[in-house]
Amino acid sequence: MTVIGIDGPSGVGKSSVSREVAQRLGYGYLDTGAMYRAMAWLCLNRGVEDPQDVVEQVRGVDLEISTDPADRSVVVDGVDVTEEIRSEEVSQNVQLVSAVPEARADLIEMQRRIIARTTPGIVAEGRDITTVVAPDAPVRILMTAREDVRIARRATELHGGADAQSTAATRSQIADRDAKDSKTTSFLSAADGVTTLDTSDIDFPTVVEAVLDLVRKAEAK
Ligand code: DC
Repeated sequence: MTVIGIDGPSGVGKSSVSREVAQRLGYGYLDTGAMYRAMAWLCLNRGVEDPQDVVEQVRGVDLEISTDPADRSVVVDGVDVTEEIRSEEVSQNVQLVSAVPEARADLIEMQRRIIARTTPGIVAEGRDITTVVAPDAPVRILMTAREDVRIARRATELHGGADAQSTAATRSQIADRDAKDSKTTSFLSAADGVTTLDTSDIDFPTVVEAVLDLVRKAEAK
């Protein structure tokens, strides 16, 4: 069973690359950010804010996340939240869950179980896959890109283009989320043994090829 761990900040293009790599290899795909988002959605929906209550929500939840790279569905306590978890409200409030260490510990356990049962391999992406969730994965990558590039990529994804107005709106969202995320996970520099892949000046197919190349190298070892 091969595990490919990909970390990086928001807007770097991790999800598209991870899904494409998974599809090309016939592997499963785990979007750990979607799990934090789903729990944040649940807490917002139930008006839960207190960290201890957040932990209880995580402990009692029935969280189903697809590991099919062609299907991004997430169902939480029977409610399909696939679309809702991408909302700006959820994006801005994920820290409600991701900043609570006990909630993280439980979600990390769930992630490890999913990774362990997915055959023949899995591409798992997030902020702490290479360092905490799967530090022994044979392929561990930190995807980076200059901030202006990440803003343009995210603006295009959210608004269909990177004109001045959407760029300005996206700039503050990305900077804000990076600052908050950096308090709980360290994904801005690569840990020992983790390969940094700077994607600022390379296009999508080239990034995918670079990841597949690292997988081939790991397999040849
Ligand atoms: O990858 P994303 O933007 O969908 O992640 C949503 C949020 O979840 C992000 O703000 C940080 C948090 N997250 C985390 O703390 N640890 C992870 N492994 C993945 C995401």
